[in-house]
Amino acid sequence: MSRKLFIGGNWKMNTDRDSAASLASGLVEAIGSVEEIDVAVAPPSVYLSAVGEVLKGSNISLAGQNCWYEPNGAYTGEISTDMLLDVGCDLVILGHSERRHVLGETDELINRKVLKALDAGLDVILCVGELLEQRQAGQTNDVVTRQVKIGMEGVPSSFSEKGEKGKKGLPERLTIAYEPVWAIGTGVTATPEQAQEVHAMIRSLLADMYDRQIADGLRIQYGGSMKPDNAAELFAKDDIDGGLIGGASLKVEDFASIIKAGM
Ligand code: 13P
Repeated sequence: MSRKLFIGGNWKMNTDRDSAASLASGLVEAIGSVEEIDVAVAPPSVYLSAVGEVLKGSNISLAGQNCWYEPNGAYTGEISTDMLLDVGCDLVILGHSERRHVLGETDELINRKVLKALDAGLDVILCVGELLEQRQAGQTNDVVTRQVKIGMEGVPSSFSEKGEKGKKGLPERLTIAYEPVWAIGTGVTATPEQAQEVHAMIRSLLADMYDRQIADGLRIQYGGSMKPDNAAELFAKDDIDGGLIGGASLKVEDFASIIKAGM
């Protein structure tokens, strides 16, 4: 099964207004017309508008790094799905390990956000991944299974029209990013074999939860110290359908090389 690769750049809490805009314009120049691969960047929320302006007319999509599950109201500091749509986002990253482990988000909270975002018309990148001690204790599959099952509870296999993109099936609306926490920002990458093993497990879980066609169509990104020099061997694995890139997405050259490694 050949799925179109999907590569995202998660800028996390980095850049300032000028560097965000210039990173975006460098990316537009380097890879803005790439069609073989879906590409998105997720700048800090306060720079979404500025980056969105720069991305206009390119093939690079704009993503939020988080959202809240209520439509509006007394939620100081939070961002609604309508706000993300309003500033031009097509999608949102949810369940990132930094939100789980630094900010205490639970699977149940993440699930509410996933349902709200999909309903509002935002596509979702749902991040999952185990801690080092969980891997060492042989719990990787259990942890990731729980995160996928609870994170996607109540998510339908297809959607009636909502949002600008109209009616779409689940594989077009949701991507899973497998990001082993021990590999994020550490310089330690999962080996292609380690990543492939978990990706294949997630795909067979999706076949159980939905059906084989959805499982085969849904993209599973790898994230965790992906760099220009290890991207190609990861993308070569059957069940690795792209990447969610942190550090290396902050440099035009590195992010562009990773995209090119997937072409
Ligand atoms: P690094 O690529 O910096 O390890 O970050 C990965 C990540 O967390 C992407 O969401």
